[in-house]
Amino acid sequence: MESCSYLYSLNYPEFEKELCALEVKSLFNDVMDDKVFFANTKVDPSVSPFLRNRLEVLFSHSSFTELVALVDQGGLHATDYMVRYVKLYDQDPPFQTRRSYCKQLGYKIHGEPLYISPKEVFGITLYKGMWYFGILKQNDITWKEHKDKPYSYSSSIGITIAKVLVNIAGNGDLSKRIVDPCCGVGTVLIEGVYAGYAMKGWEINRKIAEASRGNLKYFNYNVPVITGDIKDIEEAFDASIIDLPYGNFSITTQDELQSILKNAKRISKKMVIVSAKDISNEIKNENLIILDRCEVVKNKHNDFTRYVWVCE
Ligand SMILES: C[S@@+](CC[C@H](N)C(=O)[O-])C[C@H]1O[C@@H](n2cnc3c(N)ncnc32)[C@H](O)[C@@H]1O
Repeated sequence: MESCSYLYSLNYPEFEKELCALEVKSLFNDVMDDKVFFANTKVDPSVSPFLRNRLEVLFSHSSFTELVALVDQGGLHATDYMVRYVKLYDQDPPFQTRRSYCKQLGYKIHGEPLYISPKEVFGITLYKGMWYFGILKQNDITWKEHKDKPYSYSSSIGITIAKVLVNIAGNGDLSKRIVDPCCGVGTVLIEGVYAGYAMKGWEINRKIAEASRGNLKYFNYNVPVITGDIKDIEEAFDASIIDLPYGNFSITTQDELQSILKNAKRISKKMVIVSAKDISNEIKNENLIILDRCEVVKNKHNDFTRYVWVCE
C-alpha cells in the first residue's frame, strides 16, 4: 500500500454509488471498495464529480512526531504555501487539533506561508493508523459554473453523469479524441474539453447545434460542433459518447436507434451509450461487446433511470 504515490478520497450520494464505481474503474483500473484509496495513477480530482482530494504522499509514519521530524529533515522549500488537514470522514480529529497538526508541519517548511489563495498546498492526514504528508490537490469545483450555461433544453444530461461519461470514454488518457455525435446543447463536450480532451460534436437539429456553440463560446472553449447527421460523419475517433435521443427528441423508429448504434460503431473504437430504456438487444444486433453497464437514477427519489452501456 505505502509504495503507492497518491492517496485519494471520494464523496458520492448512495444513489450514485454505481456510477462512481464505474468511474473509479475507468480512471484507476481498480475496483472501488472504500471512499479512501491509494493509487499510482495521477488524476486531477477536478475532472471528476466524486473525487475530493489527491494527496501526493511525500512522507509517512505511524507517529506524528516522527512525521514532523521527517518533514524537517526533508528540507522542503515553498513560496506562498499552506498546510491543510485532509478530512477523511469519521476518523477526523477536532478542528483545533487539526489546526495544530498543520501549524507544526508548516513551521518545518522553508518559505513564506500564505493563507488566502496559496500557490502551493500541502496536506496532512491520518489514515488507518498511519500519518501521511504530501502535496494536496483538491477538487476545485470550478466546473460547477457549467451549470449556468446559457442554453439548456429538456433533453440535456446532468453535469455529474456527463463528467463520468467522459472519464469512462477516455480512461484519463488525454491523447484520446472523443466525439459526441448527438451532442444536444453540448453538456458532454463542455466536460470533455474541461478535462483536457480533444472533443468534437455533431447535432442534427440546426437550432440545438447553434445553442451548443453558444454554450461553448460562453465558457471560451474551443470545440467544433457540426450541424449534421451521425450518418454523415467521416472521421474516426478513439471513443464516442452517445446520449440517445428520447422524449421530445425521441427516436420514432427502431431503425433510427439501430442506425445511430451502427454509425457509432463505424466512427469509434469504444462507445459509451446512454439510453432511457434497456437496449441490450439493439446493442447485440450490432455485434457490439458490452464491457460494462450501470443504471443511473437521476435523483434520490429514484424517479428516472438512465442506462449507461460501455461497448466496443
Ligand atoms: C438526448 S439528446 C442529447 C442531449 C445532450 N447530451 C445534452 O446534454 O445536451 C439527443 C440529441 O440527438 C440529436 N439527434 C437525433 N438524431 C440524430 C442523428 N441522427 N444525428 C445527430 N444528432 C441526432 C437530437 O436532436 C438531440 O438533440
